[in-house]
Amino acid sequence: MSINAPRGTVDILPEATAKWQFVEATIRELANRYHYKEVRTPIFEHTELFQRGVGDSTDIVQKEMYTFEDRGGRSITLRPEGTAATVRAYVQNKLYGDPIQPSKLYYFGPMFRYERPQQGRMRQFHQFGIEVLGSNDPAIDAEVIGLALSCYEALGLKSLKLVLNSLGDTESRKNYREALVEHFTPCKDGLCNDCQSRLEQNPLRILDCKTDRDHPAMKSAPSILDYLNEESRVYFEKVKKSLDVMGISYVVDPNLVRGLDYYNHTAFEIMSEAEGFGAITTLAGGGRYNGLAQDIGGPETPGIGFAMGLERLLQALEAENIELPIDNALDVFVVAMGERAELEAVRIVNDLRQSGIQADKDYQGRKVKGQFKAADRVHSKYVLVLGDDELDKQTINVKAMAEGTQQEIAMSELVPYLQQQLGGK
Ligand code: HAM
Repeated sequence: MSINAPRGTVDILPEATAKWQFVEATIRELANRYHYKEVRTPIFEHTELFQRGVGDSTDIVQKEMYTFEDRGGRSITLRPEGTAATVRAYVQNKLYGDPIQPSKLYYFGPMFRYERPQQGRMRQFHQFGIEVLGSNDPAIDAEVIGLALSCYEALGLKSLKLVLNSLGDTESRKNYREALVEHFTPCKDGLCNDCQSRLEQNPLRILDCKTDRDHPAMKSAPSILDYLNEESRVYFEKVKKSLDVMGISYVVDPNLVRGLDYYNHTAFEIMSEAEGFGAITTLAGGGRYNGLAQDIGGPETPGIGFAMGLERLLQALEAENIELPIDNALDVFVVAMGERAELEAVRIVNDLRQSGIQADKDYQGRKVKGQFKAADRVHSKYVLVLGDDELDKQTINVKAMAEGTQQEIAMSELVPYLQQQLGGK
């Protein structure tokens, strides 16, 4: 019986990894341009980190975590997201003591959620995320949003929508929470089971419930924007002004509450509006989380960040028919005729590789015709042909495949010749 990959996971094979690498390199270059530094945190953490960080009342913590006891009897969880771990690393390693502030961090990596798999929703998926710790400047909120958008734009995506909201500070949210409880309590029995418990634990989450979306009480629910206190309102205005001067357009949606408990003030999501993208349209989500460092035992530190799903990004590229400029052609393939030439081919590919030239040869014992076919299959730009005649003369035939030309080159000149032809490699 053969064994398959677990449900909700996929193998990413070479044709796809070429795209992943291109996407990652583009994003890395942008993260560097915005002056962010990479962090790599463990893939598993103490379960308590996510209970305290992401929040006990969230779907992620209640239903979706891969939690197990290790051999030492500790409760361990595969990370469902990157923010809690990044903030933990910031606190544990006292990055707040670094003279360079704020800490502008980014990460790539797999995340794990036990969700019902469907297109765009997996049990192991990959995120690129950034977290800025130590700044309360509304301009950094706009920078974070701007970086998220420029990742998509740099890859050619056009059908994007930025949705923005403010969840206000603790006081604003407390007042809003009370208003929501007052609003939804009379119709509690008509709400789904999840929302009935959300009403007590986290009434804001009722607003993004998929089941109760069309419930009449949803449409008449009070808006968070009417409950922002002066400070929160001013903060939100400043974030919007910064976005305006950067020429970034957005839609304010007071129902955008996000699925994690740590948010306050700015919350945002970027959606794909491409036709045929699929039912789940959110490409990235993020927001401000000023209390999180303290919740996990660190000093009071403001924070903001986002994460984007890389599978969804690739799906969006497909939906917009964007071909990434990936060069998968091989530089040089060496074809050998006869036993002596075969051994010499071993030396030549090795020499070429040591000189920085991408090269390959046959390892299947193919006849000459088969070797040419193999060179063709990997779209080799140059095919070197070597037989007894050439060996005696210490030359080699160099075929330029695109031009259809052939030249006999002295063996001693081969490397500089190819380096020049391949553009100074
Ligand atoms: P999130 O909204 O849970 O936020 O996830 C961010 C993105 O990860 C989603 O928009 C989506 O693209 C991708 N994603 C999430 N779950 C799945 C899944 N099951 N399958 C495929 N892709 C998925 C966070 O994770 C926060 N940590 C973001 C953040 C960073 N907030 C502040 N800083």
